[in-house]
Amino acid sequence: MSSAPIDPTTTEAWASLSTHHAGLAPDLRAWFAADPERATRLTFRLADLHVDLSKNLVTDETIALLVRLAEEVGLAEHTRAMFAGEHINVTEDRAVLHTAARRPRGTTPPLVVDGQDVDADVHEVLDRVYAFARSVRAGEWTGVTGQAIRTVVNIGIGGSDLGPVMAYEALKPYVAEGLEVRFVSNIDPADMAESVKDLDPRTTLFIVASKTFTTLETLTNARLARTWLLDGLVGLGAVEDTADARRSAVAQHFVAVSTALDQVAEFGIDPANAFGFWDWVGGRYSVDSAIGTSLVIAVGPEAFAEFLAGFHAVDEHFRTTPLERNVPALMGLLNVWYVNFFDAHTHAVLPYAQYLHRFPAYLQQLTMESNGKSVRWDGAPVTTQTGEIFWGEPGTNGQHAFYQLIHQGTRLVPADFIAVANPAHPLRDGDADVHELFLANFFAQTKALAFGKTAEEVRAEGTREELVSARVFDGDRPTTSILAPALTPSVLGQLIALYEHITFVQGTVWGIDSFDQWGVELGKKLAAEITPAITGDAAALAAQDPSTRNLITTYHHLRPTP
Ligand code: F6P
Repeated sequence: MSSAPIDPTTTEAWASLSTHHAGLAPDLRAWFAADPERATRLTFRLADLHVDLSKNLVTDETIALLVRLAEEVGLAEHTRAMFAGEHINVTEDRAVLHTAARRPRGTTPPLVVDGQDVDADVHEVLDRVYAFARSVRAGEWTGVTGQAIRTVVNIGIGGSDLGPVMAYEALKPYVAEGLEVRFVSNIDPADMAESVKDLDPRTTLFIVASKTFTTLETLTNARLARTWLLDGLVGLGAVEDTADARRSAVAQHFVAVSTALDQVAEFGIDPANAFGFWDWVGGRYSVDSAIGTSLVIAVGPEAFAEFLAGFHAVDEHFRTTPLERNVPALMGLLNVWYVNFFDAHTHAVLPYAQYLHRFPAYLQQLTMESNGKSVRWDGAPVTTQTGEIFWGEPGTNGQHAFYQLIHQGTRLVPADFIAVANPAHPLRDGDADVHELFLANFFAQTKALAFGKTAEEVRAEGTREELVSARVFDGDRPTTSILAPALTPSVLGQLIALYEHITFVQGTVWGIDSFDQWGVELGKKLAAEITPAITGDAAALAAQDPSTRNLITTYHHLRPTP
């Protein structure tokens, strides 16, 4: 194990934050009234993003103490170590270099890590992915019958799915006409069945995306897809029913993305049609690597290059900006403030952009697989709460569902509101610009959460006295507002990198390895062990605990063997 992290709770800053918190009576109305510069002072520019932190429950002293906490736990040094490729993923003894996947070509000095010229390797793969995507988009890469590819199906799960599908949805306006990408992740057979049921195998390309190429869901779905493809092609008379014809059909209709190219070959995919990446890109940090191949095909190499440039702009900000103005650092420290001093259990991310509808789901893996840990990177127990639950839905849908609790519930739910100024579809409803109706909600919600509504204001509206308390809004519910010019590929890259670094900052303060995920292993192992009990092995069934045994027996009753 690596050297022990600095226990944040033993720092002077932590003690000062505790005292400060005990004496703090948040009052955003009063704070704004007394300080006309508050909004300006607490608003920051991060590449194209306008980030307003002023509606958070902080004073200048809070910010100063949080910055001191970051200094005392060694955030600057940990950040340097990450960008330099030191093995900060200690439980897997790996470098953490997703930031290298978006370093521009020709950056000097080149990044050499563990003897590997990282820049050269990254750009060699990117060039191959770009060339492949261009040939698919141009109709030069065809299926076995010579027909152009019209549908790409990405088969992957977790980081090999959530990033690509989220970004594909976010960048829909950039997707080439006539091309569609679908995503199959779940081992529930319904997912594959629904995804391919109306597809033509002659014009379908599968991308099997798996960092390890051992993931049960992905390999099972890849086999289902191979069967569907070959049966379909044979049934249509498009290929002969011979082993050779089947092999060449797989070569035309299947490509793979993985760090385990030997396993790709074993599956039957020609290694010439495989795009590699490296163990220093974590699955949930991999949308910027070859894992994004489906996205590159959909939006084109130029848009993907802009996407990477957006990430890089935020990387550079995070790497070089003093903590007092460093947006990912400040947002990560604010999250620590709410989790550890206000006992916040969750954090909402509320995009006022329909195209970002999968962004909260993507962030759930990024943040919760990274920071949902009870031990530190030296193996000792953590000393304070970690990893809040991230969740959200696009506005305004969320407003009509769960905002009640955020406005008037008993729990504190810090929330990030994200919006864009220029819509992809500037529709009008008569005289009204619909995007402005939409944005009015974005502005109104954070205002209502911050400033609330007093009993006097409710009474002044003529409300009957017995209804007044139900209509009072306490206010002082913290929010961050992020406003971007438009949802461009670059802006999307900026948003993702922002949350990656926020996650890193929180993990650093808590002293945890944000880049491993041992917590997902036990369930996988047990599923493999339980399978014989389901499929008829009486001894395996008897070996289960009573509850599991009953459940499996009930399943057998409900679904008798045909
Ligand atoms: O089970 C969790 C996990 O390991 C994630 O971290 C990862 O993104 C996902 O599974 C998929 O893994 P792979 O890309 O190796 O198939």
